Formats: sequence, C-alpha cells, structure tokens
Amino acid sequence: MVKGCRFHLPANPEPTESMRMARIQEDAAILGNRRLQGDYFQVDMQTTGIAVATQPGQFVHVQLPQFEHRVLRRPFSIYDVDPANGRLSVIYKIVGEGTAHLAELPAGTVLNLLGPLGMGFSAPPAGTRPIVVAGGYGCAATYLFAKRSPVPPLVLIGGRSAGDVLLEAEFAALGCEVRVSTNDGSCGHRGLVTELLETALDETALPCVASCGPNPMLYAVARILARRGLDGEVSLDHAMCCGVGACFACVVKLKADNPDGWEYIRTCLHGPVFKASSVHWE
Ligand SMILES: Cc1cc2nc3c(=O)[nH]c(=O)nc-3n(C[C@H](O)[C@H](O)[C@H](O)COP(=O)(O)OP(=O)(O)OC[C@H]3O[C@@H](n4cnc5c(N)ncnc54)[C@H](O)[C@@H]3O)c2cc1C
Ligand code: FES
Repeated sequence: MVKGCRFHLPANPEPTESMRMARIQEDAAILGNRRLQGDYFQVDMQTTGIAVATQPGQFVHVQLPQFEHRVLRRPFSIYDVDPANGRLSVIYKIVGEGTAHLAELPAGTVLNLLGPLGMGFSAPPAGTRPIVVAGGYGCAATYLFAKRSPVPPLVLIGGRSAGDVLLEAEFAALGCEVRVSTNDGSCGHRGLVTELLETALDETALPCVASCGPNPMLYAVARILARRGLDGEVSLDHAMCCGVGACFACVVKLKADNPDGWEYIRTCLHGPVFKASSVHWE
C-alpha cells in the first residue's frame, strides 16, 4: 500500500437496504422562493415521496435547471417537511454561482431532487431535553430534529452578527428555549456559541447534544464534550459530488482501530451526522 494514499474500507456498517430503498429521485415544483434575511433564502418545494421519507439531519441533492454547464448537484439539508402535503423546505445561503442561480428561480420551476440522503441525527433518549448547537445553515439542518424531539431542546444559535442568526422565532415556536450568541454582540451573548454550550452543560445532568455549523465550531463542540467525558452528534459540512457513495469526493477521516488510527469514510453515505468522538479531527 502506498504511504499517504492508504484507503481503508469503512468499519461502519453500510447503510441498510431499507435506507437505499428510501432514496427517491423526483421532480419537485417550487412553491415559493423568498429571501429570509441577508443572503439567506428559503425555498419550498412540492414533493411526492421525499418529504414523507425524510429523517432529521438528512439532505437533498438538487439538480438546478437551466444550469447545464455545471453538471454537479448541490446538497442542502432538509429544513422542514410537511409529509401530509409533500412540502419540503430548504434554507440556503448564496455563496456562489449555483445558489445565486437558485435564488432567481420563480415559483413553478421544476427542480430534480435526489433524497432523502445520508444518515441523520439519532432520536434523543426518552425524557431527555437535548441541546442543539447551531450556526449558519446548521440552524436549518437541526430544525427537524428539534421539531420531532419529544422534549423541546435547548437551542444554542451562534453567528458572526445578528444577520447570521436564523430561525430563532421558529425554534421558540416549537417550545424550545433559545439562547443566542454573536461574535460582535449585535444579538444575544457577545462571544462564541461554545461558551453558551459550556454553561448549558453545567446545567444538564445527561446531555444529548446535536450540532451543525461550520467545521471549526463542530471541532470546538467535540473538544468540549471530550474534555467532559461526553459525546454528541455533529453534522459535518463537506463538499460533495455524487451524493450517493460512488465518487469518494466527500471522504473524511474517522478514528479506526488500525496502525494509522483512522480510516476514510464517505460523508454522503455514512454521514453527514457522526458521533463527535468518532471523527479524527485535524
Ligand atoms: C450535507 C450538506 C448539507 C448542506 N446544507 C446546506 C444548507 O442547508 N444550506 C446551505 O446554504 N448550504 C448547505 N450546504 C452547502 C451547499 O451545498 C453549498 O453552499 C453549495 O453547494 C454551494 O453551491 P454554489 O454553486 O453556490 O457555490 P460554488 O460556486 O460551488 O462555491 C462557492 C464557494 O462556496 C464554497 N462551498 C461550496 N460548497 C461548500 C460547502 N459544502 N461548505 C462550505 N463552503 C462550500 C466553495 O468552496 C466556494 O468558495 C450543505 C452542504 C452539505 C455537504
Ligand atoms: S459525494 Fe460521491 S461518494 Fe460522497
């Protein structure tokens, strides 16, 4: 084996047959596509099957129409679903050509969706109040987890400034206690969301933590949990190509019982949600 190119087959179990069967490709018409705040938009789509099959933390891979010069789909966490009516919503931030194009698409435009993809968050243990730690689009990625949690979570939202704080009212409407931090102090606690997490962990006996946001934030969350002898789940943000396990563009290092101490795992298939303690952070 060539040093530096070592590739281990994952020790994690392959996604189950029922999970593969749940993968659906379908055309979905845009019901609405509107700016929420700043560069953040919400698009609501009419699906037939994906909204019904979605579990919290999963994502859809979106083929943009009239964008043929860019063949790759764009992955977006599933923010909310209304299974009874097939409605599926995504919150996205304009960061490049694809998301800028998406923001221009009017109601009635048909998008091709592949989903629901990936392994989402575990259901919280009965009777516990989970702690959600979210930043940026991570607020959207954790919303369904909060919505389906039997006990409404304590939600900690972090952002650079007030314009980056998403879904505060929506989480509160679920019955969640919401605490906000911003780096510049323009909203909530001045500082990092991980400072809010330290306080929350001091207050909680057996915490169940679910987190999504920028990778440095997730790393900080993992370090705090490890220092306290705790674990939690983190949804990793990693660029993807195929989204279904075929291209290996999305690999991350997970800890492994081998001479290297790690192995590559495909985020699109075995993630994006992983145990914080299982990630080989570097
Ligand atoms: C599992 C998963 C779930 C996601 N969920 C959401 C979501 O709910 N809402 C949302 O707004 N975005 C989400 N993303 C990120 C989203 O896929 C990218 O922002 C999008 O593909 C960028 O497309 P683009 O053509 O606009 O940008 P590009 O022109 O492709 O890139 C523009 C810039 O954005 C950067 N970029 C591209 N992809 C990512 C990424 N994954 N993370 C960080 N930077 C990136 C590029 O490096 C480049 O600097 C998710 C990504 C993954 C892997
Ligand atoms: S994106 Fe192709 S294997 Fe994950």
